[in-house]
Amino acid sequence: MAEPQLLAERMSRILTGRGLPADAADLAPTDTEADPYGATALELAAARIPARFRHAYAEHPDISAWVGEIARVGRPGPGGAPGIAEGPSLLIAGPTGTGKTYQAYGAVRALLAAGVRLRWQAVTAADLYANLRPRSGHDPERELYTLMRCPLLLLDDLGAAKASEWTEELTYRLINHRYEHLRPTLITTNLPIRDLRSKLGDRVASRLAEMTDRVTLTGDDRRRSAVRAVE
Ligand SMILES: Nc1ncnc2c1ncn2[C@@H]1O[C@H](COP(=O)(O)OP(=O)(O)OP(=O)(O)O)[C@@H](O)[C@H]1O
Ligand SMILES: [Mg+2]
Repeated sequence: MAEPQLLAERMSRILTGRGLPADAADLAPTDTEADPYGATALELAAARIPARFRHAYAEHPDISAWVGEIARVGRPGPGGAPGIAEGPSLLIAGPTGTGKTYQAYGAVRALLAAGVRLRWQAVTAADLYANLRPRSGHDPERELYTLMRCPLLLLDDLGAAKASEWTEELTYRLINHRYEHLRPTLITTNLPIRDLRSKLGDRVASRLAEMTDRVTLTGDDRRRSAVRAVE
């Protein structure tokens, strides 16, 4: 049987096992209240998903395929539910406002809805650098290790902050650790793929080339189109 069909069947089984419609992963939300995933785990996790992305839905087929792959390779945990294991990472590229962060949170929500036991963290690259600046009463190394070891990390807006040797080194340490341990990482970036090397440095870009599946979103800035629609 073809791999995508196997993945789809497995997703359906997981969803059905959790009392969700077997085609829940294929449903698009029809209004802001509708939630195609709608699982208890989602409600529990909702507090940690920024309000703007609380209904985010990973509709892009390549992102759904990545979610299916991560759900498939998850090792069963103590309660029988699959946990995040080693797996591919995903790089979502594209211009401002094309929905990269939306798709990334949609992917996290899809994993939660599929019953994957999930410890996850999300941080923008800019916040990461700000949080890791040396300051008294704060242990930046500990913070960095938490992000290095987290089973699923969403690193948002990589390459948007002004680069320095220091930011490049931190990015390298974080990405290299996750690269070596095959830890699934969702990365979004405004940088065109061809600029990754010049903006992030060769060591980071080379690792990303090997560890990530890639999706490039295109289209208008959705923030501005939404404003135009009501004008
Ligand atoms: N598929 C979608 N359906 C409905 N709303 C969407 C979708 N994708 C994005 N949006 C909305 O469009 C806006 C911009 O999306 P988002 O913040 O994900 O863009 P981005 O590509 O991450 O932008 P930036 O590069 O500036 O970070 C948000 O309000 C988001 O909720
Ligand atoms: Mg974004």
